[in-house]
Amino acid sequence: MIISSPDDYREAARRKLPPFLFHYIDGGAYAEETLRRNVSDFRDVALRQRVLKDASSLSLETKLFDETLAMPVVLAPVGLTGMYARRGEVQAAKAAASRNIPFTLSTVSVCAIEEVAPVIDRPMWFQLYVLRDRGFMKHSLERAKAAGVKTLVFTVDMPVPGARYRDAHSGMSGPNAGLRRIWQAATHPTWAWHVGLHGRPHDLGNVSRFLGKATGLADYIGWLGQNFDPSISWNDLRWIRDFWDGPMIIKGILDPDDARDAVAFGADGIVVSNHGGRQLDGVLSSSRALPAVAEAVQGRLKILADSGIRNGLDVVRALSLGADAVMLGRPFIYALAAHGQSGVANLLDLLAKEMRVAMTLTGVKTTAEIGTQCLVETSIRPSQA
Ligand code: GLV
Repeated sequence: MIISSPDDYREAARRKLPPFLFHYIDGGAYAEETLRRNVSDFRDVALRQRVLKDASSLSLETKLFDETLAMPVVLAPVGLTGMYARRGEVQAAKAAASRNIPFTLSTVSVCAIEEVAPVIDRPMWFQLYVLRDRGFMKHSLERAKAAGVKTLVFTVDMPVPGARYRDAHSGMSGPNAGLRRIWQAATHPTWAWHVGLHGRPHDLGNVSRFLGKATGLADYIGWLGQNFDPSISWNDLRWIRDFWDGPMIIKGILDPDDARDAVAFGADGIVVSNHGGRQLDGVLSSSRALPAVAEAVQGRLKILADSGIRNGLDVVRALSLGADAVMLGRPFIYALAAHGQSGVANLLDLLAKEMRVAMTLTGVKTTAEIGTQCLVETSIRPSQA
């Protein structure tokens, strides 16, 4: 099929993937209201067109912590990326490095830290949950450090998993899930050949190395379920702050009070996120949460945003609402599933092109200049609206 826009990758991925994998990435929690609003609220943010502003020297380069990014985009941590393409984390990391942006490896990736870090020439970022098993956390941090990771991302909006009702219908979970997945793989031969057969082992690479045994999809669901820890608080992160000298980013902030707590904790950054609408349905979309969070933070830490960003215009909108950079999840997984590393690289090129047009026509030359002046005033809504 013809790919001309970032959205086209979603349909290309849908055609290629066994439904249980497509719906796992595409779906959200409960009635998926927040998932839908994440996207539609970004699209409702009206950009303010300006003309004759000489954009000849426009640059997307962005400084974030000690890094220079070719554009204000980071690939988000996505569990099971290696089920979407053969050794998917390796392919996505290479695509990100080729476009000079960071890739974040998820704790529950298929490829382990040691498989991904050596294939790229820039430090990758690493994501952790705050889990019950502190031994696992310490072990992961040591391995991440040894692999050259400097930036850690802590996902804090998953002390309990939100219900993903689509998964039971699609075969990710639910009755006869194993059999249904085998049938789906058999009827999606391209995926079955490249990923199902030649993309093995389908371990949770990081967890397997810790447990010293092979793990699989059933362990993914089981291990996550056992390890989420509803008792976590800021105190549980304190030892890591003391132990880790690189940037620490807290992912899953939607409320200005939590953003202030992150500042008080000494975080270097936060991700304004509702986990892509995959946790508590009914919470604010990230675009509506951003302005109040940015106001609370007052530049004391870096703000990334995710959940609902689907193209380069959305990146400019997020920066206009107060973010310094964005994280991209679903869009890169769709591109990876469709066309592997070159799909992700092409997606990033499309995003960059779209950003350039949006910046030219809102009259800004650098990403640091992007701000509320790029928006029509009525579209900067207070978070309670
Ligand atoms: C895991 O973080 C998920 O959203 O499925």
